[in-house]
Amino acid sequence: MAPNYDYSNASSTPLNNAGSSPYGSGDPYYNESTGYISPAKPPQRKNNWLKIGVPVFIVVVIAAVVGGVLGSRSHDNKSAAASGAQASPTGAAAASQAVSIKQALGVLPTATDSMYLLPIYPSTTNQAAFTTPTFVANSNNADLGWPADPFQPANPAPTSVRPDRPRLIAPAYKWQALPQLIANDPYLKFWNDTNFNNATQFKGQPPVPYVMDGSNGILDPARDIKRRIKAFGYAWRMSNNTMWVDRTYQELQNAVSDSWGPDNDTKWNPAHFLDTAELTAAYALAYDWFYDVWQPNQKQFILNAMLTYGINPGLDALVNNTNFWGWWADDITGNWNCVCNSGLTMGALAILGDDTSGAAERVLNWTIPNAMENCAFGVSSDGTWVETPGYWYFGTTAHAEMSASLESATGSDYGLLTVNPNFGLTGLFHMYVTGPGSLFCWGDQGPNRFSTTANAMLYYGDKFNHPEYVLWQRDQFDASSDPWSMFYYNPAVTGAFWDGLPLDHLFDNSTTAWAAMRSSWTDEDALFVGVKAGTLTGHQTHNDLDCGDFVLDALGTRWAGETGESNYLAEGYFSSDDQSSERWLYYNQRTEGQNAIVVNGQNQLVTALPTVQFQTSNTSQGSSTVFDAPSNSTAFFIADLTSAYGNVTSYQRGIRMLNGRKQVLVQDDINAQGTVMWRMHTNATVTINTGGTSATLQIGNDQLTMQILSPTSGAQFTKGPIARLPTDPPLPAGQSDLDDGPVTVVMISLPAGQYSLQVLFNPQWPGMSSSDFVTPPSVPLGSWTLDSHN
Ligand SMILES: *[C@@H]1O[C@H](CO)[C@@H](O)[C@H](O)[C@H]1NC(C)=O
Ligand SMILES: *[C@@H]1O[C@H](CO)[C@@H](O)[C@H](O)[C@H]1NC(C)=O
Ligand SMILES: *[C@@H]1O[C@H](CO)[C@@H](O)[C@H](O)[C@H]1NC(C)=O
Ligand SMILES: *[C@@H]1O[C@H](CO)[C@@H](O)[C@H](O)[C@H]1NC(C)=O
Ligand SMILES: *[C@@H]1O[C@H](CO)[C@@H](O)[C@H](O)[C@H]1NC(C)=O
Ligand SMILES: *[C@@H]1O[C@H](CO)[C@@H](O)[C@H](O)[C@H]1NC(C)=O
Ligand SMILES: *[C@@H]1O[C@H](CO)[C@@H](O)[C@H](O)[C@H]1NC(C)=O
Ligand SMILES: *[C@@H]1O[C@H](CO)[C@@H](O)[C@H](O)[C@H]1NC(C)=O
Ligand SMILES: *[C@@H]1O[C@H](CO)[C@@H](O)[C@H](O)[C@H]1NC(C)=O
Ligand SMILES: *[C@@H]1O[C@H](CO)[C@@H](O)[C@H](O)[C@H]1NC(C)=O
Ligand SMILES: *[C@@H]1O[C@H](CO)[C@@H](O)[C@H](O)[C@H]1NC(C)=O
Repeated sequence: MAPNYDYSNASSTPLNNAGSSPYGSGDPYYNESTGYISPAKPPQRKNNWLKIGVPVFIVVVIAAVVGGVLGSRSHDNKSAAASGAQASPTGAAAASQAVSIKQALGVLPTATDSMYLLPIYPSTTNQAAFTTPTFVANSNNADLGWPADPFQPANPAPTSVRPDRPRLIAPAYKWQALPQLIANDPYLKFWNDTNFNNATQFKGQPPVPYVMDGSNGILDPARDIKRRIKAFGYAWRMSNNTMWVDRTYQELQNAVSDSWGPDNDTKWNPAHFLDTAELTAAYALAYDWFYDVWQPNQKQFILNAMLTYGINPGLDALVNNTNFWGWWADDITGNWNCVCNSGLTMGALAILGDDTSGAAERVLNWTIPNAMENCAFGVSSDGTWVETPGYWYFGTTAHAEMSASLESATGSDYGLLTVNPNFGLTGLFHMYVTGPGSLFCWGDQGPNRFSTTANAMLYYGDKFNHPEYVLWQRDQFDASSDPWSMFYYNPAVTGAFWDGLPLDHLFDNSTTAWAAMRSSWTDEDALFVGVKAGTLTGHQTHNDLDCGDFVLDALGTRWAGETGESNYLAEGYFSSDDQSSERWLYYNQRTEGQNAIVVNGQNQLVTALPTVQFQTSNTSQGSSTVFDAPSNSTAFFIADLTSAYGNVTSYQRGIRMLNGRKQVLVQDDINAQGTVMWRMHTNATVTINTGGTSATLQIGNDQLTMQILSPTSGAQFTKGPIARLPTDPPLPAGQSDLDDGPVTVVMISLPAGQYSLQVLFNPQWPGMSSSDFVTPPSVPLGSWTLDSHN
């Protein structure tokens, strides 16, 4: 089910990818009105100082500062060895060592001149710092960890709130602890600065104007206001400077003024309730975090606005089943349910006790059980977000805000974290779905990510005892652009997320099945393959017809990539995911728009029920960031995709790593009664070599070659710009496909028949000569084993 929204007031239409950088705002290679800048030729990813200078700098600092720690530890080791005792520090000593290590390491640099803004891991071994991820015990040491919350109700209840303010996410005891924690943690220090910096930037801008955008209502302005309130609130509580109070009130007045929206009934656009919910959350934070300084009339003004435009319309929707689209309904296991319930919950918690109408109490009775039944199941049993990797951001941001608000305000999450026993795996999903060349971003990615980050990773890592989620996220660039990192982060974390983390993972729920394989977690040039074969329906109509679709990264860039979403305003785009849906008329959603096989020019069948197999050598990276996989280290994924096609007797697609994870083989064993067309989308410049059996792809100074190994005759690469197949049914009248930019499609076209179509990918690694590449034997997919290609 998807929004059946009246778009007749549409005033802006997304252009080529415009308005939604996969990394949200702040992406330097993204322009919100024109989309990506020069996607085909990414700029130089890093300068030499970053590549060479930073690791050296870090090594020197570690040697200088941790050296003391290491020195005294090895000294301890000697005496410990003499007495036969264990030398690992415990208690206060462990806490003090953890602080020293953190300070020595500092914050890893972000490749800010890279396309993908990923962290740069130092090329070094550091046995003091890069150890098994853990939270240091005894961490309520004031230098290292949060004190215990003084509010520990014996019988928590949603309407029984803590006695002090703030209630939402950041209670007073946390603000009191922060200055000392900031002094001892380079991440907190960095984020404190960036949050102040953001607040200063926002302060200098006029209040967010009302902009009704046909595809997302007023969601962008709503989220923009929310991120401002978060930043202003943070700056206020950390500085006591009343200029933040005044600026916040200005923002709050503007979004309920007579010039905001067409009339009072539609002021916060309840028809597109996400907008209403985000504004309610923003006002809730303002009400709560500034509670002590609002004048009585200001408090009343904010409270009235929340009740009139947010909570009462929300209650009406929940109780009376009004509202155009049932975001509270039982099959809405996606971001909508999380965002709407979370915003109403935060609003209600903020005003409980001051609201004399009873609406706040009543709405909690509905939002909590509803989110437990629906929002919490936006995560499938393997951890995958059931919509798409892009919608994961919206869903988890809201889920974490709702859970953290309930905990801080009332002392319990009421099971929101645990009702789905696999919810905690979603951090693993986010880590594996992130390749060194960006997300494996299948399906729709959603609107601009104002106010939305991956900082739920910090919260989940702490709650589900997955320190690797915390270690991973704290180095991501978006950790710094949101005050949630300050409060979700457990500073007692130590170690390296990659230490012991398997390179490969199969996500095996049949609805969301996909796999990731890589050659390293810390080399930005690593080889990465993501491939999927889940069902085509059951994703809140955000999926494409993409069984067997894959992405491939190497040498710091993406070679086989996604075309992305289409225009959300396009007719019928969200009508349904039935076979006859108009959604499947748009190129980017059609099977021809994926890195997949098209048979007879037709779309895949929405009834597809693929089965998958996966094997891996179980290679894990060790403690060092410098990692070279052993030569027999491998993984492969095979999906039976017969059910995804008409006119196909049998079809399996297999993908494997070869030659110690330096090459990739994509093999399609297919018997088709219609034409077979292999397709792959790339931003590279493609040169097809004489004879057509190999092709050279070039991006910047990097090259990758592709070779058809089988069939040995009759199969040739061709290339072309993105174009609809001549046999495609027409688009709805007046509609067009989005311009996907200068993307080239690499194709192999074969007549009906039985084939083992094998395509070899050889990234041209520096220092690797042609004789270092292997040509694997031809092995039917049914006979693939871990060593069948050695
Ligand atoms: C917020 O801060 C982050 C980190 O410094 C920065 O990347 C981002 O551009 C800032 N956002 C705004 C809107 O200023
Ligand atoms: C937080 O950052 C602001 C602005 O950079 C700075 O003035 C303040 O001292 C910092 N707070 C702490 C506790 O370090
Ligand atoms: C702001 O005020 C609070 C409460 O009075 C106080 O605890 C805190 O130290 C003050 N912070 C600054 C930076 O002045
Ligand atoms: C909207 O509501 C406000 C506050 O109740 C009121 O002052 C204003 O007149 C209303 N505007 C319209 C157009 O009804
Ligand atoms: C439900 O609808 C009835 C009838 O229109 C209305 O009186 C009532 O206020 C609505 N309930 C809520 C919570 O809005
Ligand atoms: C609480 O919500 C349930 C449905 O979730 C409803 O049946 C019940 O009437 C509600 N109680 C109150 C007091 O609103
Ligand atoms: C996939 O995950 C969903 C959500 O947790 C669950 O309801 C479903 O049973 C799972 N399916 C399988 C085949 O495990
Ligand atoms: C081309 O690059 C843009 C920007 O990084 C990306 O969004 C898109 O997915 C890429 N297309 C392909 C086919 O790789
Ligand atoms: C790879 O080789 C090592 C050493 O010979 C052996 O122990 C290991 O089992 C092999 N792994 C696989 C997946 O074949
Ligand atoms: C890898 O781990 C899985 C799960 O523990 C196990 O079933 C499989 O046999 C292992 N494979 C190898 C090659 O060790
Ligand atoms: C099978 O092939 C026939 C003849 O080309 C075509 O009309 C039909 O649509 C195909 N069926 C499917 C499900 O693709």
